Amino acid sequence: MKIRDERREDEDLIATLITTAFLEAPHRDGNEACLVSGLRAAQALLLSLVADEDGQLIGHIAASPCRIGGQSGYALIAPVSVLPSRQGQGIGSALMQAALQRLEAARFPGAALVGDPHYYQRFGFAARAGLGCAGIPSDYVLSRGLTGAAPVGELDLHAVFTG
Ligand SMILES: CC(C)(COP(=O)(O)OP(=O)(O)OC[C@H]1O[C@@H](n2cnc3c(N)ncnc32)[C@H](O)[C@@H]1OP(=O)(O)O)[C@@H](O)C(=O)NCCC(=O)NCCS
Repeated sequence: MKIRDERREDEDLIATLITTAFLEAPHRDGNEACLVSGLRAAQALLLSLVADEDGQLIGHIAASPCRIGGQSGYALIAPVSVLPSRQGQGIGSALMQAALQRLEAARFPGAALVGDPHYYQRFGFAARAGLGCAGIPSDYVLSRGLTGAAPVGELDLHAVFTG
């Protein structure tokens, strides 16, 4: 398996992969593939990485710009998707590590995401006092530092997420 940037010809496959990955997810809203195509159309994908196994796309991760506590320049990591038949094999972790390395190399001071704290704590993400996002329980709003301290404050997502 190799992790690489998306290519133009991957776009439809990425949408199918995301939809399939989220079919059984507990917090799905069915709109996850549209988030990525919306971010792409808005030229707001900081990264869009695929896990490619002999030409088959088995995982994907995206990041987009966000403001935290009124400060721009942070990265929101979302969504993360692995084909159901391949979950639990370290592919999501490999995608997350690759994304974090890219963002750190690009000098992003910190990153945030919305997700299960038990899963994402292994990557250094945690809920933090003062960190929040409208409409989302604060336990699920997580951040970590990259080149700087872990950001806190109100998370202001790209408009694609808020409709
Ligand atoms: C979440 C997801 C990306 C993780 O990818 P993965 O390749 O299955 O994860 P890994 O193999 O790297 O890690 C497996 C570990 O994550 C845990 N895990 C996976 N999904 C989890 C979830 N939604 N909540 C809590 N823990 C989860 C597994 O229990 C396992 O734990 P262990 O290492 O202690 O045994 C993948 O399961 C997925 O696509 N799920 C559906 C879509 C989704 O919910 N995405 C996340 C929200 S953006």
